[in-house]
Amino acid sequence: MNTLDSTHFQAELEQAGARLGAAQQPEWPDAGAVRDAVSTLSSYPPLVFAGECDVLRDRLAAAARGEAFVLQGGDCAETFASATADNIRDRVKTVLQMAAVLTYGASLPVVKVGRMAGQYAKPRSSGSETRDGVTLPAYRGDMVNDFAFVPGSRTPDPQRLVHAYHAAASTLNLVRAFTTGGFADLRHVHDWNKGFVANAANARYERTAHDIDKAMKFMAACGADFDAMRTTEFFAAHEALLLDYERPMTRIDSRTGLPYDTSAHFVWVGERTRDLDGAHIDFVSRIQNPIGVKVSPRAEPDYLLKLIDKLDPDRTPGRLTFITRMGAGTIRSALPAIVERVTESGAQVTWICDPMHGNTFESTSGYKTRNFDDVVDEVQGFFEVHRALGTVPGGIHVELTGNDVTECLGGSEKILDADLGNRYETVCDPRLNHQQSLELAFLVAEMLGQS
Ligand code: PEP
Ligand code: CO
Repeated sequence: MNTLDSTHFQAELEQAGARLGAAQQPEWPDAGAVRDAVSTLSSYPPLVFAGECDVLRDRLAAAARGEAFVLQGGDCAETFASATADNIRDRVKTVLQMAAVLTYGASLPVVKVGRMAGQYAKPRSSGSETRDGVTLPAYRGDMVNDFAFVPGSRTPDPQRLVHAYHAAASTLNLVRAFTTGGFADLRHVHDWNKGFVANAANARYERTAHDIDKAMKFMAACGADFDAMRTTEFFAAHEALLLDYERPMTRIDSRTGLPYDTSAHFVWVGERTRDLDGAHIDFVSRIQNPIGVKVSPRAEPDYLLKLIDKLDPDRTPGRLTFITRMGAGTIRSALPAIVERVTESGAQVTWICDPMHGNTFESTSGYKTRNFDDVVDEVQGFFEVHRALGTVPGGIHVELTGNDVTECLGGSEKILDADLGNRYETVCDPRLNHQQSLELAFLVAEMLGQS
């Protein structure tokens, strides 16, 4: 990392951001305090190494060619309080369990990406929230303010940027320990999955689990090197929303002389901030990391072609991922035109399905929720569209937790509207719980196996 060059580069980013204007930024009450926090962040070590971002770019390029499948998963909004050892372990465990099932279904390597260690900022549809006649600033994620609906808590506090860095650093440290220290051993992961299908409610997945068991025994009999499977690659990703966090984390790599956002391996721009001429797209256009953009049915094909020219002018394999979030009822009609136009243009993007954000609604009991069947149906539609067009369904992006929360309806545990209040713990969007996540993996493995 080259400190002097990094400082110059960060200043350039800031000037461009000020000129273009960034949507969804908090109104920090004290500009001096923001400058202090930003300069503290820029003095801290990077959280990821540029070379790791390059590896992920290669993995995503393989997924775009149909030679790997991507699994991105984690909280909608991470909180500082929930960055505990148990929560991190259970989320990593859930992603690893899903990945083992998907690897079998796809007969391909699964690229594991946590929506973790940086997912602390949220875009909001309204800048304020009113409850019982009291109006306060909206909660914008732990990186900005506190969820509690009391005045002091909702005031944006730039020291939270620094806190976010430390929470991300300790989360990533534990993730790295778990995924390289033996916890990720394929044999453990498979045993955990046997526990899942032992539950009578999941009996319909027994067959797949049994087939995986046979494959494992076959590998053992052939003398496969299980010790080489004790560790796994695991990447970190979040939405690049808060530029006062992403800019100071952007550094010039001394090896290549190129800028990387070292807050995560992969960052994406969300549906609300992907304005072609806005500061977020400008920011990601200047970094070397593999990047994503959320794509809803509102995205016109012409806009997407301009976006590709801006974000991936050299057509670098793995550079650009489109994370489509269409809604189960819309994907089959809205996705084909988009995929067709992008493919015709000769661009190769990695297509990932986010089956969560197009399927959110308010339940009768007043909770923001999603139906497990809609989530499955959107992934099914995603596979159907890509197969009909001869293009590649490259992966899925899911909001999940390793805990037994009750936030999404349905699944084999049949969570009902009346159950949502039992353990509704998310501070933003509803997540699949541990069981629902595994069930989704078994169903997607079946879809992958049909190719
Ligand atoms: C999200 O991923 O939590 C999110 C806000 O998604 P989108 O930008 O697609 O609405
Ligand atoms: Co969300």
